[in-house]
Amino acid sequence: MSHSPHRSHWNNRWTFMLATAGSAIGLGNIWKLPYMIGVNGGSAFVLVFVACIFLVGIPLMMTEILLGRRAQKNPLDGMQALAIEAKRSTAWKYLGGMGMLTGLLILSFYSVIGGWVLAYIIEAARGSFSQITAAQSTANFDTLLASPLQLLAWHTVFMFMTMSVVAHGVNSGLEKANNILIPSLFAILLILLGYSMSVGDMHAAFQFMFKPDFSKITPVAVLSALGHAFFSLSLGMGAVMVYGSYLQRNVSIARTTIYIALADTLLGLLVGLAIYSLVFANHLAPNAGPGLIFQTLPIAFGHMPAGGFIGMLFFILVAFAAWTSSISLVEPAIAWIVENTKIKRHTAAWAIGLAVWLLGIAVVLSFNEWKAIKIIFGLNIFETLDKLTSTILLPLGGLLMAIFAGYFMNKNHVQEELDLNDQHFKFWHFTNNYIAPIAIGAVFLYLFGLIK
Ligand code: TRP
Repeated sequence: MSHSPHRSHWNNRWTFMLATAGSAIGLGNIWKLPYMIGVNGGSAFVLVFVACIFLVGIPLMMTEILLGRRAQKNPLDGMQALAIEAKRSTAWKYLGGMGMLTGLLILSFYSVIGGWVLAYIIEAARGSFSQITAAQSTANFDTLLASPLQLLAWHTVFMFMTMSVVAHGVNSGLEKANNILIPSLFAILLILLGYSMSVGDMHAAFQFMFKPDFSKITPVAVLSALGHAFFSLSLGMGAVMVYGSYLQRNVSIARTTIYIALADTLLGLLVGLAIYSLVFANHLAPNAGPGLIFQTLPIAFGHMPAGGFIGMLFFILVAFAAWTSSISLVEPAIAWIVENTKIKRHTAAWAIGLAVWLLGIAVVLSFNEWKAIKIIFGLNIFETLDKLTSTILLPLGGLLMAIFAGYFMNKNHVQEELDLNDQHFKFWHFTNNYIAPIAIGAVFLYLFGLIK
């Protein structure tokens, strides 16, 4: 398939890399990974998570990019076009459709957490962290969660930020800003890490995160780690596929993927170390859940020199990271509407934004007024959306993409996109066709009670 002159493409390979890295690096690394490590028993989770990144995440990221670049379309029409090219059932398009919906479901809670980050920029700027104790910090966070109006206001601001970029299309300046933002995020993290190392309990953090303890590897930890590998790399719903569809021919998919996956994983683990050395030094609970970074980081910022300013800068960078991720969660749906209807991009963006914003209100309420409302398996609205997307929809999307590329597409077409030497191609083929499907399949069989 050739490049249509009507589709915009990234200006160069660097922009694609930054955009995809911008999509991958976000709240998943900074907010979610640290607390998931704590909730799932520390090192066991880390080990399985890293294994999932390498054995499932990297090959499937390559798969998703290659599908997008070959299709040159949004996920739904793209899967249909690829199925037609391979002379297969066009029902494959529903895989693209499922991904678009998954992205919107994720955005509904992602935006609420993005709102917490925005709130903390202001808190840091106001000097609220100064000399704060662990108990005060936890109380501050609880106060924020207890206020539906405040959460709603910040959720609204975050949705507004996201949709105003999406309304303008993918070649926006924000992706270029990643040029400065991602390195800055690493830099400020190193400052934080240095501070945590000097006052925190880095030894305990290291032990907690990296001392292998295979006895703690539970099925639930494996399930969560696999799901989080998808979440962290933005896989399984077509975000990377859409970005790949804006990618020019001459870029190496494998190299790009490996850089992004390494940066993404490293960043998450560094945040984890910084957080846990503070957690243990302050005798906090590692399994505090979604509030973990909001309860622990202010303690660090509150006691380091220029902590108010550094804290503000940190949360600003996290907000940017979340922003560049949230865009990729809606882009597939918007691309589909724009490429299929007469609806203008900005109209589509605001309409979809409104729908996600409404669902987000339910998420806001699940942290306070509706906390006790359980949807399924004792999970509230936020937890249900999170588990449903991370542990079911994303791995399912990834599994089906792997099967499509590995078993339904013409092998020469795949090779043409990946453009790898024989040995590397064989490696991709083995992980894509066997390792990833078996790993995901086993997790699903366990989930549905078919294996123990
Ligand atoms: N990867 C992002 C993060 O870690 C979140 C994200 C963006 C995402 N786009 C996605 C997750 C697509 C799953 C699918 O914050």
